[in-house]
Amino acid sequence: MFDFKIEKGLVLPLSSSDLKSVKLSRQSCATATFGKDQGLVIKCKAAVAWEPNKPLVIEEIEVAPPQANEIRIKMVATGVCHTDLYHLFEGMHEGGFPVVLGHEGAGIVESVGPGVTEYQTGDTVIPLFLSQCKECRFCKNPKSNHCEKGWIADRQGEMSPAESRFTCKGKKLLQFVGTSTFSEYTVVNQMAVAKIDPAAPLDKVCLLGCGICTGFGAAVNVAQVEPGSTCAVFGLGAVGLAAVMGCHFAGAKKIIAVDINPEKFEMAKVFGATDFVNPKDRSKPISEVIAEMTNGGVDFSLECVGSVGVMRSALESCVKGWGVSVIVGWTDLCDFAARPIQLIAGRTWKGALFGGFKSRDGVPQMVQSYMDKKVKLDEFITHNMPLAQVNDAIELMKNGKWYIYILYVYIIEDLQTELYKDKH
Ligand SMILES: NC(=O)c1ccc[n+]([C@@H]2O[C@H](COP(=O)([O-])OP(=O)(O)OC[C@H]3O[C@@H](n4cnc5c(N)ncnc54)[C@H](O)[C@@H]3O)[C@@H](O)[C@H]2O)c1
Ligand SMILES: [Zn+2]
Ligand SMILES: [Zn+2]
Repeated sequence: MFDFKIEKGLVLPLSSSDLKSVKLSRQSCATATFGKDQGLVIKCKAAVAWEPNKPLVIEEIEVAPPQANEIRIKMVATGVCHTDLYHLFEGMHEGGFPVVLGHEGAGIVESVGPGVTEYQTGDTVIPLFLSQCKECRFCKNPKSNHCEKGWIADRQGEMSPAESRFTCKGKKLLQFVGTSTFSEYTVVNQMAVAKIDPAAPLDKVCLLGCGICTGFGAAVNVAQVEPGSTCAVFGLGAVGLAAVMGCHFAGAKKIIAVDINPEKFEMAKVFGATDFVNPKDRSKPISEVIAEMTNGGVDFSLECVGSVGVMRSALESCVKGWGVSVIVGWTDLCDFAARPIQLIAGRTWKGALFGGFKSRDGVPQMVQSYMDKKVKLDEFITHNMPLAQVNDAIELMKNGKWYIYILYVYIIEDLQTELYKDKH
């Protein structure tokens, strides 16, 4: 058992003077005691999606103790990503509900199951939707981050009911992409958990669990943007903005930001975009507009929308001979089309999951880059809300308003209010 406190998203061990105040502040719930529930079922709050296209419901759920190779995590903060909305509103719903969504969070290890040696109670961690077992042929091959051992190997959206540790009202709840961060506690296999610097602010670095690594890595690892090159990024949600940041980090000299919502351009500038195109203002195909701006097309393009039409447009916006286009946006609903001549002419078309990062290695490195001020995270965050407001965050995101929403999942109401107050 040990004690900790949270200050402005940072998880800090309690000093002896703090411990003195614990007795006072425990009343006001400014601290929590860990480890006492080891081996027991924990009852806690979670946002449950009972069925598609309906608001989430805050329910009391039961979280079973971690089994072999599993880790139970107390979530502190989580972002809301478009992929959560995709599952709720667009995806193929068969068998995907009831589910606890959320997959970009950060928290603290509450307890570990048998066989877990690399993690212990009190570690600060980021659960990962993409595992890295470090043993399979994909993990061993530096060319891929597609670990074949995680839940993702045989399912597209959520863990199998047998692997989920959640129940509510006698019903098994599914764990979305193996994580389920819209819950005060979750259980994740140890091959899908990144241990991170304990000094990292969890309400910022939680974003590295998905969108920011996805966009940044797509530019840096997958497209391998080169210094002095020209780039185009289609879609300026969090993923696209992170791709802009990746292009800038890699030294691109011209970064064209494309979005149908011009409100996004100002933020894209913050991350390094140099030129802005709103397809709604143009009568020509965007690939022609970009070709005119860049003497025949960009060196690198990144699709961060999830639309097969935009994927084609991004490919056609690349220069012939050596242009590289990376698909980042997510869809599994329709086929795409392109003329073979586009590839015969020397363009390369690629896709990337989680920005090509091997997850357990890459996420702690990205946390370090943030701590060293080499990558931005704070600038992505426009709203901070308690978990109870998850439906407001989803509504805002659905309407294309702003970028990233951080939900404080932390169980203690008083502290949540304190944190919430702090940010406004
Ligand atoms: N490949 C992966 O590993 C991975 C991981 C996370 C997210 N994703 C996917 O990345 C995509 C982006 O995620 P997000 O959270 O940034 O989404 P988002 O909804 O916040 O942003 C999408 C942006 O695209 C813009 N847009 C829509 N139609 C457009 C068009 N025709 N042309 C140009 N811009 C257009 C929107 O205005 C919006 O700004 C989603 O499809 C998501 O599912 C993929
Ligand atoms: Zn593996
Ligand atoms: Zn995501």
